[in-house]
Amino acid sequence: MSRGHFVSFEGVEGCGKSTQLALLAAHLRSRGAVVLTTREPGGTPLGEALRAVLLDPDYQPTALAELCILEAARTQLVTTVIAPALARGEWVLADRFADSSQAYQGTARGLGHDTVSALNVLACGSTWPERTLVLDLDVDEALQRARERPSTTTFNRRFEDEALPFHRAVAAGFRELARREPGRVRLVDAAGTPEQVFGRVLVALSDILP
Ligand code: TYD
Repeated sequence: MSRGHFVSFEGVEGCGKSTQLALLAAHLRSRGAVVLTTREPGGTPLGEALRAVLLDPDYQPTALAELCILEAARTQLVTTVIAPALARGEWVLADRFADSSQAYQGTARGLGHDTVSALNVLACGSTWPERTLVLDLDVDEALQRARERPSTTTFNRRFEDEALPFHRAVAAGFRELARREPGRVRLVDAAGTPEQVFGRVLVALSDILP
């Protein structure tokens, strides 16, 4: 059975990963690839319902409850959407995936790498990104962008409202992942225009692009 390609985009809030994902999807489609784009948490009816719960400041899940909600959404997405698309030979582009749980819940919330790894493996099995791009941007600048987005509302700003040290810890968590797995996880400088950043994205994927 032909296998597709699985690429995830990661980074702090407001780093521009959704824009880069859309540019890559268009680039691949222009070359004839079949592309499935998705996001975490979300990407399935169950996942989108869990996303609303997760982002709502009315709920204050413990760190472990937060991780379990994310992993429930993740296993649903992997089993019903991502694995079947890869089996069909498609490209799957994910706006956040399991590495976000390492940076946010493992590092910033303090659950630790091993706990998050164990649950990620349970949720994902062997379905894992072959390349993960961490868009690396100054945290203050990125957060400013995120808080000003029209899509940030009182019902979904639980993470945007976290203080600066939390987001600095998330950024440090992503850099640590890039150090641990330099083959898969690549830091991409996210400063500059979307076109400039996209040039760096293409370089970071040059060995797997069609
Ligand atoms: P979203 O609005 O998608 O943020 P962004 O546009 O910056 O990606 O909200 C998703 C939030 O969920 C984001 O703040 C990070 C958080 N999150 C985790 O804490 N752990 C995870 O594993 C995932 C996938 C997301």
